[in-house]
Amino acid sequence: MADEFLPFSRPTISPEAIDEVVACLRSGWITTGPRVKKFEEAIAAYVGAPRVLALSSATAGLHLALTALGLEPGDEVITTPMTFAATLNMIVLAGGRPVLVDVEPDTYNMDVGQIAAAISTRTRAILPVHFAGLPVDMDPLYALAEKHGLRVIEDAAHAIGTEYRGKRIGGFGDTQVFSFHPNKNITTGEGGAVVTRDQKLADSIALLRFHGMDREAWNRFGKSGNQHYEIITPGFKYNMMDMQAALGLHQLPALDGFIRRRTEIAARYQEILAGWPQWTLPRTPDYPHRHAWHLYAPLINPAEAHMDRDAFMQAMKERNIGTGLHYRAVHLYPYYRDQFGFKRGDFPNAESISDRIVSLPLFPGLSDSDQDRVIAAMAELFGQD
Ligand SMILES: Cc1ncc(COP(=O)(O)O)c(C=O)c1O
Repeated sequence: MADEFLPFSRPTISPEAIDEVVACLRSGWITTGPRVKKFEEAIAAYVGAPRVLALSSATAGLHLALTALGLEPGDEVITTPMTFAATLNMIVLAGGRPVLVDVEPDTYNMDVGQIAAAISTRTRAILPVHFAGLPVDMDPLYALAEKHGLRVIEDAAHAIGTEYRGKRIGGFGDTQVFSFHPNKNITTGEGGAVVTRDQKLADSIALLRFHGMDREAWNRFGKSGNQHYEIITPGFKYNMMDMQAALGLHQLPALDGFIRRRTEIAARYQEILAGWPQWTLPRTPDYPHRHAWHLYAPLINPAEAHMDRDAFMQAMKERNIGTGLHYRAVHLYPYYRDQFGFKRGDFPNAESISDRIVSLPLFPGLSDSDQDRVIAAMAELFGQD
């Protein structure tokens, strides 16, 4: 119905996934247990990784991966201002100092060519973000990391199913963190996972995600379990529940189909909006990749559109169409300005994107006629044929 509010994102949950959640609820075991283990194995098989740790969120994953690196005060982590605040927040909470490099103006991904100049004697890690599910150029990034002995923690919150030069994100490199938040390409309600090829890091994260206990509850309350445990280190409470994994077990097999549909919708936006002066459209790089199209986020040209991004979002809302803002550049938030001295002008590409970016409706359940509605509303708003 044309009048219904069309959100910018909506999860696609199958009847089988709902049945699995109900079965979990009826099973008598709803927190971390056999379904989480199965989900971890399924992710490991999908991305091609030896070890997967399911967690309560990607934020938790970033916190644990960075904490497990054992950052010392003053240690630096190089990342991008064009990300969700959690990326930088977790560097700070893990004891590090965020050092930023600007992004490319049209992919919004960190400009790998600028990383070398940001490396100092205090640099410990590089933290790229695969923005919207578009892979960062990882070969030169890993070459730099190797040359300087740096860890790489990939913020792959948008990038489950993303491929770089024929390899899935999570299937190569150091450590990756996925998000299963409801807006993401697959969801467990809230949820996330860390994938790593470093067994020691994986062991630390396994400890830290559940109080620093040497044995999780599933191994203590079962028939063959031993009720005693030891605390090896003070840990967090970042475990995923079986109720969440029940959803994930049915989302993961649907992921490639979700990405196919997202790709069709994004391609249609790119094709139709190509001639509109009101938009600057995102570009995809030349290296072989599969974009996961978590977001379709063009940049508004305020002079041609006769309105800025915020006015556009408001006008679309008045037409019953939701849009999203991903993201405002993190270095301009008060904490980061005050604490680290960042200011407007430091990262011009990120700032221009931050001021102009808007996410248009994109989710697997979006029909062609829903998309027609979005395009018609924008055409009417801009007086565009
Ligand atoms: C780039 C990026 N990193 C991290 C996160 C945090 O993910 P979560 O909501 O699962 O904690 C998000 C979530 O939106 C994100 O977009």
